[in-house]
Amino acid sequence: MKTHTSEHLTVQYVLPPDSPLESLFCRIIQKDVAKGCIDPDLLGTDTCRDAAIVRVCVDGSWREIRVPIFMAHLVNPLGLCDPEADNPAAPVWADGSWTGTLLWDSAAHVCELMLAQPCWRARLRGASCLELGCGLGLPGMVASLLGAAPVLLTDRLQVAEMAEAGCRANSLKGARGVEFDWDEAAARQLVADHFGGRAPSLILACDCIFEPLFGEAHLLLRMLVVLADAQTTVIPAPEIVILALERRPNDGVESFFALAEAAGFEVHVLLQVNRVVVVEMWWRSGGRGAVK
Ligand SMILES: C[S@@+](CC[C@H](N)C(=O)[O-])C[C@H]1O[C@@H](n2cnc3c(N)ncnc32)[C@H](O)[C@@H]1O
Repeated sequence: MKTHTSEHLTVQYVLPPDSPLESLFCRIIQKDVAKGCIDPDLLGTDTCRDAAIVRVCVDGSWREIRVPIFMAHLVNPLGLCDPEADNPAAPVWADGSWTGTLLWDSAAHVCELMLAQPCWRARLRGASCLELGCGLGLPGMVASLLGAAPVLLTDRLQVAEMAEAGCRANSLKGARGVEFDWDEAAARQLVADHFGGRAPSLILACDCIFEPLFGEAHLLLRMLVVLADAQTTVIPAPEIVILALERRPNDGVESFFALAEAAGFEVHVLLQVNRVVVVEMWWRSGGRGAVK
């Protein structure tokens, strides 16, 4: 099982011995779709099957958080079923939401960046933060541990509920998991409801650009334009957008960033490690446009 170990962050995956689901072994080796059956209501609860044990080093002290996780990619995602549903054979999360049930490498690298660099730690203190397509929401949780508040972890409903359970399980008081299925009206509402109508200081989105699964990336960019544009006369917005991604064939990343620049964002690569790329974006002065 892939783990992440560095000076500031370790991520290990564990399966509780009394897991109500079959072990990873069964899921991987037997490839028995029925054994991939999940009750979506169970995700994120104490009885949840897998967990990522995450240890983060904040200002010299280690803190451990336990993030509920389900290795959905190890079963056929289209075979993920809800045994209680009217049609138990119908796949759940076939829209790609299953990818939010595990932690992706680019998110781990964003955490590492925030933990390792003093300038990021200073920047995060007291900053409002919004994570899009958060999955487990680890970067948002780390931002919260570093003093960001409020921190909103957003995703489609089932995934957001899991992120909310993760925040509660780890007593991250300034952080919440909230449903946000990308839509312009919903984006305006989100900013009004949770950020007092101002753009958050930091917007995070990890591994959310992959055209074969999520469709053309224009939708994500349209969200960023709406979210980053919300501002009052007092607080200019937002300070920064961080996008992290893992390069894959036909991922649509080049066209995403070409569009982002055309929409008025300055784009700057912060980090490149193997297939992971972390990019920061901010509004180029005077250069806001629309996403065609
Ligand atoms: C590959 S996962 C990344 C999860 C997490 N950010 C990470 O890196 O570990 C992509 C996430 O984006 C979410 N997503 C994709 N399209 C979305 C949409 N239209 N609205 C809300 N969330 C979306 C999925 O549900 C999924 O949780």
